[in-house]
Amino acid sequence: MQSLQEQIKIHEQEINAFTPADAGELETYRIKYLGTKGIVKAIFGEMKHVPAEQKKEAGQLLNAFKQLAESKYEDHKHLQDGGKKTGPAIDISLPATQLPLGTRHPIRMVENEIVSIFEKIGFSVATGPEIEDDWHNFTSLNMPENHTARDMQDTFYVSQNPDWVLRTHTSSVQARILESQPLPVRVICPGRVYRNETISARAHCFFHQCEGLYVDKDVSFADLKQTLYYFVTEMFGADTKVRFRPSYFPFTEPSAEMDISCTVCGGKGCSLCKHTGWVEILGCGMVHPNMLRNFGIDPEVYTGFAFGMGVERITQIKYQVNDLRLYSQNDVRFLKQFQSI
Ligand code: DAH
Repeated sequence: MQSLQEQIKIHEQEINAFTPADAGELETYRIKYLGTKGIVKAIFGEMKHVPAEQKKEAGQLLNAFKQLAESKYEDHKHLQDGGKKTGPAIDISLPATQLPLGTRHPIRMVENEIVSIFEKIGFSVATGPEIEDDWHNFTSLNMPENHTARDMQDTFYVSQNPDWVLRTHTSSVQARILESQPLPVRVICPGRVYRNETISARAHCFFHQCEGLYVDKDVSFADLKQTLYYFVTEMFGADTKVRFRPSYFPFTEPSAEMDISCTVCGGKGCSLCKHTGWVEILGCGMVHPNMLRNFGIDPEVYTGFAFGMGVERITQIKYQVNDLRLYSQNDVRFLKQFQSI
C-alpha cells in the first residue's frame, strides 16, 4: 500500500495540472476531492492508522493538501456564476470620469441661430458649391464681365479653369435657387466665402455669410424691412433699433445697408460702433429685374427681396470678438468660452 505521503503527492500533481473548462468539470472536481465521499475526507480518515509519533507531521501534510484542493476550487468558482469573475464589487453610484468634450464653434452656433430664426417664419435652408462658375457668382447677378462692381470683391480664381472662382459671396446660391426651384421661393443660405484679402484682425481670406431670398407675387420693400426687423429683435433683443441707408449692389434695386443700434453701448458711443451708436450688419434690397429676367422670371409678375449678412460680423457684435483671426486659430481657450452659450 502506498504511504500517505505518496498518495498525497500523486493527488497534488493531479490538482496542479487540472484546469476546469466549465462549471461541469469544476463540479466533478469538487465531488471527487471535496465532497463528503471525496479524496480529502478519505485521506483524513487514514490519519487513524498513522503511528502517534508521525501524527504531527502527517497532519501538516494533510492540511496543506486540503488547502491546495480548496484553493483550486475557489480559483475557478467564477465559472459557476455564468462566467463572471467575482472581484471586488463595482460601486455604480460613484461619479463617472468626465471625458473632455469638444464645443460647437462660435461661428457655427451663430449660423445655426440665424437659420433657426428664419426657419420660424417659413424660410428653408439652401446651400451651393464653394467653387463656383462665373455665371452664378457674377454674371447672372447683373455683374457682367468688366462690370466695375466685380472690383468690390477681390476674387480667387481657380487655375484649372478660367471660368471657376472660389465664391466671393453666398449670393451665388440665389442664382442656383432661381434656376432650379419653382416660385415662390423663400430660402436662407449659409456658407463659407473667399476673398483675396490680407489677413488681419479685421479681414480674412475666408469667412461666412448667410444669404436670404424671397421671391413671390407682391413682395415689397416693407416686407423686407419687417422681416429684417423681426430677425434683429430675435437675435439681439427687443430693444434693438434698426435703420436703413441707401446703398448700391448690382443685384438689387433699390439697395440698402442695414444698421442696428449698438448692442454694447446702447447707442451712447463705444469702440464697436466707432462712437456713432450704430453698427452695420447687412446689405439688402429688392431683387434687380435684370436678375429675375436672367432666370426667365417676369419682373412685372414677380418681385422679391434679398439680403446678405456676415456671420463673423454678427458673432463679433453678439460676443464682442475683436479679432477675426481667432475664429480659425483653433485655440481651445477661445473656443471654450462659448461652451455655455
Ligand atoms: N453679396 C453681398 C456681399 O457679399 C451682400 C449682399 C448685399 C447680399 C445685398 C444680398 C443683397 O443679397 O441683396 O457683400
